[in-house]
Amino acid sequence: MNILVTGACGFIGSNFIKYEVEKYDDHFVVLDKLTYAGDIKNISDIKDRITFIRGDICDDVLVEDIFAKYHFDIVINFAAETHVDRSIIDPSVFVKTNVEGVSVLLKNCIKYKVKRFHQISTDEVYGDTVLDSDHRFKEDDPLHPNNPYSATKASGDLLVMSYHKTYGLDTIITRSSNNYGPNQHNEKYIPQIIDRLVNDKDILIYGDGNNKRDWLYVLDNCILIDKIMRKEETGTYNIATGIEYTNNDIASKILAILDKDISKVRYIQDRKGHDLRYALDISKIKALGLYPSIDIDEGLKRTVAWYMDNQAYLESNKTISYNDYLRKNYGE
Ligand SMILES: NC(=O)c1ccc[n+]([C@@H]2O[C@H](COP(=O)([O-])OP(=O)(O)OC[C@H]3O[C@@H](n4cnc5c(N)ncnc54)[C@H](O)[C@@H]3O)[C@@H](O)[C@H]2O)c1
Repeated sequence: MNILVTGACGFIGSNFIKYEVEKYDDHFVVLDKLTYAGDIKNISDIKDRITFIRGDICDDVLVEDIFAKYHFDIVINFAAETHVDRSIIDPSVFVKTNVEGVSVLLKNCIKYKVKRFHQISTDEVYGDTVLDSDHRFKEDDPLHPNNPYSATKASGDLLVMSYHKTYGLDTIITRSSNNYGPNQHNEKYIPQIIDRLVNDKDILIYGDGNNKRDWLYVLDNCILIDKIMRKEETGTYNIATGIEYTNNDIASKILAILDKDISKVRYIQDRKGHDLRYALDISKIKALGLYPSIDIDEGLKRTVAWYMDNQAYLESNKTISYNDYLRKNYGE
């Protein structure tokens, strides 16, 4: 099969493509703009197994050329602007990539008769729910995004669903909870904690640290995305562990792994519109026999070990704009 993987130089996409080339003989084309979040080094060890094209999913002419040349069986879209904090500072590029980019890919899927389009989405499209309850979002619940990032991801999902209904395109949407693991940019919560502790700085935690998330080890997500992408049925699937931890819980676990104490925690002014709790109902994937296998303690141990072995990665990914943001807002 010919498979287009967009955004495969980022965090989840790079872990996914490495998993795929190890397992299958398919031909993989990677299309990635290499924004601040994308790094070709993330896939350098498999460069001989893929065709890499640097480019923007919003570039209609380029995308059409690629679709005309390769006749894809599957297009799987990881390309996105993904950092909620950045979307609060400036949503425009999020609208461009996460909505317009999806539209360009979908249009070309119809024109070039692509067999399947798989959109990588997020639990954030459902919005948040109250902290102490049993409520969990199901795949057919209404979308209720609360920040510019999740609003643009929800818009992307709606476009995908409209292409399924209007044009009969075979579509899949996977909505996962928060991922963690190797190759994640150090602006994100877990790599940032590790980076700051390694450099003997305080950990910065928004608000009171009681916001809850369901943390999914990235390899588990990749394995389940692969199984869903290659099975016959279309549709939308939540991917998560069903277990939630507060931001304080995660910080404490990493402090313990790195043998540091709680005095390293500094609480900072909360993120605007900070979602309290994301919680996914995973009965649909469970009924298919699909369930993540790596628990939080094992996953965090592996993650910390990877960053300790790859400290140059944390250094090379520091962006001037984000450091400015920290300096301005938190006196860094
Ligand atoms: N990281 C998480 O915890 C998480 C959780 C749920 C869902 N998701 C979703 O998974 C997908 C991947 O997330 P991630 O954390 O790996 O993201 P990331 O920010 O690490 O990587 C995004 C990748 O997309 C590329 N990209 C950005 N704009 C592009 C454009 N216009 N054209 C081509 N390439 C472009 C970047 O260069 C980068 O390689 C996203 O769709 C995100 O919404 C992420």
